[in-house]
Amino acid sequence: MASLLYALLTWIVLLMMIHASLAKPLCHPDESSALMEFKSSFQINRTYFHCVPKVESWSLHRLGDCCSWDGVQCDTNGHVTGLDLSNSCLFGTITANSSLFHLLRLESLNLAFNDFNNSSIPYGFGNLSRLQNLNLSYSKTSGNVPSDISLLSRLISLDLSRGWNLVIPNVNNFVQNFTMLRELDLSYISISSPFPHVLANFSSLKSVKLVNSRLHGEFPVSIFQLPNLEVLDISVNYNLSGSIPEQQWGSPLKSLSLWRTNFSGEIPISIGNLVFLSLSECHFSGSLPSSLGNLSQLAHMDISNNKFHGHIPASFANLTELSFLDLGDIQLSGPFPSSFENLTRLVWLRLSYNNLQGEIPNSLWELKNLEFLGLSGNNLSGTVDLHKLNNLEVLQLDFNNISFVNKTEISTTPPNLSHLYLDSCNLHEFPKFLGYLRKLDSVSLSHNNIGGSIPMWMWNGSRETLSHIDLSHNTLTGFENGHNDLPLPKLLHLDISSNILKTELPSPPPLTNYYNISNNILFGGIQSICGARSLIVLDLSNNSLNGTIPSCLGNIDSLSILNLGKNKLEGTIPLAYPKGCVLKMIDLTENRLQGLVPRSLVNCSMLEYLNLGYNQILDGFPLWLSKLTELKAIILKSNKFHGPIETYRSHFNFSNLHIMDLSSNSFNGELPSKLFQSFHAMKVVVHQDKLEYMNTHEELPLSSNTSFLVVWEKVLDFGMKLMSKGIEREYSKVPYALKEIDLSNNKFKGCIPDIIGDLKSLVWLNLSNNILTGSIPPSLANLTLLESLDLSQNNLSGEIPQQLVQLNFLSSFDVSHNQLSGAIPQGSQFNTFKIDSFAMNEGLCGSPLPKNCTIVGDNLPLPPSLEEENDKESPFNLDWKVVLIGTGLGFPIGFVLGNSIIDEKNMWFLHYSKIIAGRWNRLGRH
Ligand SMILES: *[C@@H]1O[C@H](CO)[C@@H](O)[C@H](O)[C@H]1NC(C)=O
Ligand SMILES: *[C@@H]1O[C@H](CO)[C@@H](O)[C@H](O)[C@H]1NC(C)=O
Ligand SMILES: *[C@@H]1O[C@H](CO)[C@@H](O)[C@H](O)[C@H]1NC(C)=O
Ligand SMILES: *[C@@H]1O[C@H](CO)[C@@H](O)[C@H](O)[C@H]1NC(C)=O
Ligand SMILES: *[C@@H]1O[C@H](CO)[C@@H](O)[C@H](O)[C@H]1NC(C)=O
Ligand SMILES: *[C@@H]1O[C@H](CO)[C@@H](O)[C@H](O)[C@H]1NC(C)=O
Ligand SMILES: *[C@@H]1O[C@H](CO)[C@@H](O)[C@H](O)[C@H]1NC(C)=O
Repeated sequence: MASLLYALLTWIVLLMMIHASLAKPLCHPDESSALMEFKSSFQINRTYFHCVPKVESWSLHRLGDCCSWDGVQCDTNGHVTGLDLSNSCLFGTITANSSLFHLLRLESLNLAFNDFNNSSIPYGFGNLSRLQNLNLSYSKTSGNVPSDISLLSRLISLDLSRGWNLVIPNVNNFVQNFTMLRELDLSYISISSPFPHVLANFSSLKSVKLVNSRLHGEFPVSIFQLPNLEVLDISVNYNLSGSIPEQQWGSPLKSLSLWRTNFSGEIPISIGNLVFLSLSECHFSGSLPSSLGNLSQLAHMDISNNKFHGHIPASFANLTELSFLDLGDIQLSGPFPSSFENLTRLVWLRLSYNNLQGEIPNSLWELKNLEFLGLSGNNLSGTVDLHKLNNLEVLQLDFNNISFVNKTEISTTPPNLSHLYLDSCNLHEFPKFLGYLRKLDSVSLSHNNIGGSIPMWMWNGSRETLSHIDLSHNTLTGFENGHNDLPLPKLLHLDISSNILKTELPSPPPLTNYYNISNNILFGGIQSICGARSLIVLDLSNNSLNGTIPSCLGNIDSLSILNLGKNKLEGTIPLAYPKGCVLKMIDLTENRLQGLVPRSLVNCSMLEYLNLGYNQILDGFPLWLSKLTELKAIILKSNKFHGPIETYRSHFNFSNLHIMDLSSNSFNGELPSKLFQSFHAMKVVVHQDKLEYMNTHEELPLSSNTSFLVVWEKVLDFGMKLMSKGIEREYSKVPYALKEIDLSNNKFKGCIPDIIGDLKSLVWLNLSNNILTGSIPPSLANLTLLESLDLSQNNLSGEIPQQLVQLNFLSSFDVSHNQLSGAIPQGSQFNTFKIDSFAMNEGLCGSPLPKNCTIVGDNLPLPPSLEEENDKESPFNLDWKVVLIGTGLGFPIGFVLGNSIIDEKNMWFLHYSKIIAGRWNRLGRH
């Protein structure tokens, strides 16, 4: 039986070989040896994603006819005309003398998805003068694209996209000979010029893709008139301006992608017959034309992040082919469209961050194919019924007023739900269905009214998948049955801040990188933190934690943000860094810490913020901090620091410092002129268009799946308690432009150095309650941004310099309790200061003091013209009202946090939309 089968097979194979040799001539030996030589110039590296090493089967001995080799095509004369080695695991470089360039009959060459090891594309392709199709995309090539490719005037398709670091120096020259071209893809090549206008003459063009090519200037409208153009993708060219023309749509355009460009204007009434439309993150405006509803083939519409207005046109009900619709963040208003019931193909839908009002129509819950549903940040209400949405993966309902239907059966929960955002949804309890979800990765329930303990059933189904939990800003009191070992091995991100948890510190699972349980009533020690070896952000501030700081914190070499402020920690600061230190922020304020500032901090070269205020640290001034050139804020206030700050030998380099608060210590000696001199950041006035805050951006891995690394960027603001205008306040964030020096309540003696007048961007200066003598230097008049100046409780003498009336922003001024004399300057801001500002200076006279100045010298009051300036409110004052803690607790904090949540969600969304877009592209291609 077996031998019979063998005979049969042999016979079939023989028959096939005879047939093959009769059908076409064998390939030419010079071409087969050129191919073999090409093969041997590469290694095979199978690590490239899903590659197939076609060349491995090539051999001169077995069936030597190269025309039958995998990836090789011949014409009827046996000449090699096509070579498709895309995704073939090739690793190596192509050189100018490569045998590839001997295959002079090649018409089609595809080497995409290989690894050319970041090498440049050689000269030589210009020899292959019959080439019609050339594809080197995704192949790790770099450098200038060789100009001899421009000779290939028969090219029909050219794809050099997504190399590594490719450059085309003169794109108009480069493409000018390609008059037959139908498809062009130069995406991710640095072109850095205006759009190549010569393309407008190539009437065969069907597809043009120049994504992320650093194009600038004005996009030529004539491209829209190309008679055969179906695909135009020029997205991610931030400086490319243009508009969509109202008429002259000569082309049968199917796919138009302009996202992240500088395109503006309105969407015209007539917009062809598109299948794919992506205009997000541009500057489009106006209302959405109802005619968009005529795009009966439209499958993908993303017009998010523009500045439209008005309602969603009712005609959208006719877009029944839509599978992707993003109308997020485009300033729409009005009711939720009732007309989406027929959009049954939607794989998701995003209407987030608009101003939509009212009930969500029940028909929404009938859209069975939805995978992504984003309704965040509207004013929607209603009941959510997920039981038909079996494909749902991402649900964003945060910042609405929404409740859930009460069905708890397993069958009603979307089996694939992985990302659930229900922040600020007015929830009073944990939604029951959470416990039945089996693939939950991220859950965010912040800013609700959920009280009681955190139930263990919540992770019944998703114990092995949960990586991200945000329960912050609720009224949670603890963990069910005191279980504070979280049984979540994949957990990366845990935020339970701003609750009323009264338990011991829950132990973070080992992979946790973000751990924030600040603003609770946690008690006991913090040793259990040592189990987490991947921490990047650790915030346990504002609790009642006691005991010592464990030295293990010095071994967590990923730690960037350490905030243990406002607890009852005692002992010394043990932070030693045997493995190096990447800390950017250390906040240990308001504890009971003693001893010295650890010298090992000098290894933390990225440190931007150091707050040791309100402890019992007994040390001299840590001069060596000046090695940390990134430092922006140093706060040592209310400790037992002592001694002089500088000696004749001191050298300082605090060139980036914005805030130096050494108040309420026992420093003595002269005021440190050399220190002031090193504050270079305080010497320049930088004008900013918008208010920016002192903060740091942390990249946090979103998933523990290392083969698919997604990070999100979290902005962490530097908060601090500051003394402003005589009142101490807690600021949750501090404007970047605030420059402050506070040396008050020490024992500094001697004069105020003139050099302070060089710190031109100083906003607050406090030298009060020292033993300073001499006069007030007139150079202070150069601090034109100064808002608050406190020199009270010293032994200053002489007159108040008249020049100080130039300080237009000065709203708080205190020189009381000194020995000043002469006339108080008059005019401008000085007209607004009260008696208290000048009290207890025997020699002072003039308004607001009752004592008149008898001798009128040259200190005449300024002319009243300057007084118009009095109403000027400081640029800071206005905006700071938003961020003050203590007053109006609810709104400002919610607002601030709300914003950061929005950013993060958008990050995730972008990522998701790329997956969907990719899916669409794949479908579209086949
Ligand atoms: C294969 O490619 C991977 C990734 O580029 C690289 O790390 C590895 O060293 C390569 N292997 C060989 C044998 O070249
Ligand atoms: C265009 O092709 C012609 C003829 O092949 C050649 O002489 C010329 O140099 C090419 N132009 C460019 C810019 O390469
Ligand atoms: C949908 O299209 C039909 C046919 O073109 C039209 O009659 C109808 O008014 C459209 N619906 C809406 C809501 O615009
Ligand atoms: C949805 O489709 C049905 C059936 O084709 C039609 O009767 C209904 O009017 C459509 N609804 C909307 C809002 O267009
Ligand atoms: C939801 O469940 C609670 C008990 O868990 C019950 O008291 C309430 O009536 C239910 N609501 C609805 C709408 O079924
Ligand atoms: C920490 O506080 C707890 C009470 O909350 C107390 O029992 C314990 O002794 C304190 N530990 C230290 C080291 O002070
Ligand atoms: C203010 O600065 C200018 C130059 O920056 C300097 O010439 C002038 O003397 C300073 N004024 C005072 C009062 O020190």
